[in-house]
Amino acid sequence: MNTNFIIRGFGHYAPEKVLTNADLEKIVETNDEWITTRTGIKQRHIAAEDQAASDMACEAAKHALAQAGMKAEELTHIVCGTFTPDSMVPSTACRIQEKLGIKGQMCVDVAAACSGFLYAMQTARGYLMLEPDAKILVVTTEVISRFLNWEDRTTCVLFGDAAGAAILTSGTDDEDAPRVVDITLGADGKLGDLLTVNGGGSAWAYAKGDVVGDDHFVKMQGREIFKHAVRNMCAMSDKVLTRNGLSKEDVDVLIPHQANWRIIDAVARKFEIPEEKVFCNIAKYGNTSAASVPLALSEAVTEGFIKKGDLVLMPTFGGGFTWGAGLIRF
Ligand code: ACO
Repeated sequence: MNTNFIIRGFGHYAPEKVLTNADLEKIVETNDEWITTRTGIKQRHIAAEDQAASDMACEAAKHALAQAGMKAEELTHIVCGTFTPDSMVPSTACRIQEKLGIKGQMCVDVAAACSGFLYAMQTARGYLMLEPDAKILVVTTEVISRFLNWEDRTTCVLFGDAAGAAILTSGTDDEDAPRVVDITLGADGKLGDLLTVNGGGSAWAYAKGDVVGDDHFVKMQGREIFKHAVRNMCAMSDKVLTRNGLSKEDVDVLIPHQANWRIIDAVARKFEIPEEKVFCNIAKYGNTSAASVPLALSEAVTEGFIKKGDLVLMPTFGGGFTWGAGLIRF
């Protein structure tokens, strides 16, 4: 029997504080013109001092649960995608569970950086095939601002904080609800050094009293990433469409990982998808890594950008390097 992967609700959350490009000009040697033309970013949201990844995840989860008409107690699994977890132990998923005031669910974190939503969703689909009655919170959340070197203009202008969520359950063939059609994923660990936060890991151990250095923050080789990003997002999109008997003409809405407008534009051009079919909110949020796809999906649904029946293509890439492409039929 085929499993139907139904999405019962979407949710998103971005912290209140906004940091504009003009604000950044006071922090590092940069300017609005450079940031806008190279990336499309105008502002980003920054978590409050007392907000951790799990706090933002809970806000997004509550919205998704409300849209699904479900109580948190009904959940059976929490799958959290993040590369900026609350801590090494416990997992952020366990913290989310605690903050939602529930217990007993299976809770797990998935680390795939900016491909985190598709990786978390694919993990959830696996659980759903094992347990068809499962009701799964898939939530991605990033407080990247805590892992940025605010003296490094090549990285600190690019990222923002946010969370996104979806509730996944099984359903019937004829159910009139958004469903995950397919997801394909991949990775190449040889490209791992292109984007790192090494400090504190077991390969980069620190001793008591050591000074926190550059290794504790995001380091990135932007140019190299750009090339791999476009190539692999296109390859994965081709793969997921082809194996479902679909072509680029069947795509109604393109929601790629929101890292850089030029990357999104390059992918859209390669797929000959006109700009009016591309949902892009990078100007408001910057690159929110694993949160970017569900944040965009949730906004696109709320704003009516996605209509009933639409096929949405979601190509992603992220540190690791990881990549993937997903299809949702609304
Ligand atoms: N403000 C002003 N000037 C800057 C800034 C800044 N914020 N940052 C860099 N520059 C300067 C550089 O110093 C360099 O100056 P130079 O020519 O005098 O040496 C010049 O601008 C060009 O720098 P490049 O790095 O070559 O600029 P590029 O056109 O490649 O754009 C960017 C940089 C925007 C990072 C681009 O390479 C990119 O978007 N890459 C992909 C990055 C990405 O997506 N990362 C996340 C991926 S994974 C994940 O999402 C977790």
